[in-house]
Amino acid sequence: MPTNNGLAPPSSFPLGELSSAEFLRDYWQKKPVVLRQVWPEIEHQLPIDADELAGLATEASADSRLISGSFEQQDWQVRYGPFQSDDYIALGEENWTLLIQDVEKHYPPLKSWLRSFNFLPGWRLDDIMLSFAASGGSVGPHTDQYDVFLFQASGTRHWQIAEQYNPPLLEHEEIKVLKNFTAEQEWELNPGDLLYLPPGVAHFGVATENCLSYSIGLRTPSRAEMLADLAEWYSRKEDQGGRYADPDLVLATDSGEIDSPSISRMEKFLQTSIPTTEGATLQHWFGDFITRYRLSGSPAAPDKTINQTDLTQALSDKRPIYRNPWCRFFWQKINDTTFLYATGTTLTCDSNFAHLLCLPEDELKLDQLKITPTIVAVILNLLNSGHLLIDLD
Ligand code: SIN
Ligand code: CO
Repeated sequence: MPTNNGLAPPSSFPLGELSSAEFLRDYWQKKPVVLRQVWPEIEHQLPIDADELAGLATEASADSRLISGSFEQQDWQVRYGPFQSDDYIALGEENWTLLIQDVEKHYPPLKSWLRSFNFLPGWRLDDIMLSFAASGGSVGPHTDQYDVFLFQASGTRHWQIAEQYNPPLLEHEEIKVLKNFTAEQEWELNPGDLLYLPPGVAHFGVATENCLSYSIGLRTPSRAEMLADLAEWYSRKEDQGGRYADPDLVLATDSGEIDSPSISRMEKFLQTSIPTTEGATLQHWFGDFITRYRLSGSPAAPDKTINQTDLTQALSDKRPIYRNPWCRFFWQKINDTTFLYATGTTLTCDSNFAHLLCLPEDELKLDQLKITPTIVAVILNLLNSGHLLIDLD
C-alpha cells in the first residue's frame, strides 16, 4: 500500500460551491447532480493510484472483481480476485474494470475522506470503492439500492443516467445489467468532477480512456434485513418476544378455516413486534444492528490480554491507539447517559470520549481528552475485544 499518508480532501470536496444545506434540500435522495471540479488537484494527489489498486487486488483479503464486456456485445464476464498482472494482460487493453470494495479499511488513511461527508449521519456511510477501468471499461447500465458519490479521480469517464428505465435485466448469474437502456442525461466526467446519484437511478459509465473512480457508497438497510435482525434479536431473549395468545377465542365455525379473528389477533401481535423508544429498546437494537450490519470482518481478541498496568504505561508513553479498521463505532445519548455501540457491543461511555471514538479516522486523538479511570476501563475493554488496536512491543 502507498507510503504517503493520504492527503485530506480540500474543503471544496465533495460538494464544490454547493452548501451542504443546499445539497440536502435540492438533491439528497431526490435527484442526480454533477458537481464540477470539487477537487481539481486530485490527479496529482491520489492516495491510491491504479498500480497500487492492482497491488491490493493481489491480496486474498481484498474483495476484488474484474468485469469485462460491453453493452453492444452483451458479453459480460465477472471474475473474482485475488488477481495477478497476467489476469489483466489476458484481458487486453480495453473493455474491462477492476473494482475493489472497502478500500478505506485496507488503507485506513483514506478514512479521513469520510470526514468530508460529515453533513450526513456517519452510520449512513458504507465504504469507498475504487475502480480502475481500461478504455471502454464499464460494468454496464444498472441501478443500485443505495446513494453513491462517484468521484472521478483520474482519466475521463462518460456517464449516462436515466430516472425512468425498463427494469428487465440481462440473464446473467453474476452481474445485474439492464437489458435496455436509453439515456436521459449524459456528462463527461474529468478528474476532480463528481456525480451524485440517489438510489434507483439507472446509470451507465464507460471509460473514455484509462480512468480511476473513487465511489463513496451509502448504507441503506432493507426492511427485510432489519426485520430478520429483529427476529434474531428476539430469539436471543428468554421469552423469544412473547407468544401469540387468544383468550377471547369463540367456537370455530369450520376448524379448517383460518378465520378473520385469528388474522386480527395476529395483526395486533405483529404490530407490537417493533421495539419502541419507550425503554430505549429501539435505540439499543439499532445501535447494535447498524454496527454489525453487513460487516466484512469481525474483531478478534489480541493474542495476549492487555492489563491495566500495560495500558496505563502505554498511555503515558503516548503510544498510538488505532480503531480496528473493520470495526464500527457510533454513540447515542439516552436520558443523559451516553451509550457506545462498538460492532455489536454496547457500553456506557463518557460522552467526549464516545464522540472522539466515533470519528472516522484511523488513530484515536487521545491528546484532546482528559483520560479518566472510566475512559481507561473502556479502552481496555475495547482493546481486549479487538475493536481497538495497540502495539505494545
Ligand atoms: C464503476 O466505478 O466502475 C462503477 C460504479 C457504479 O456504477 O456504481
Ligand atoms: Co452503480
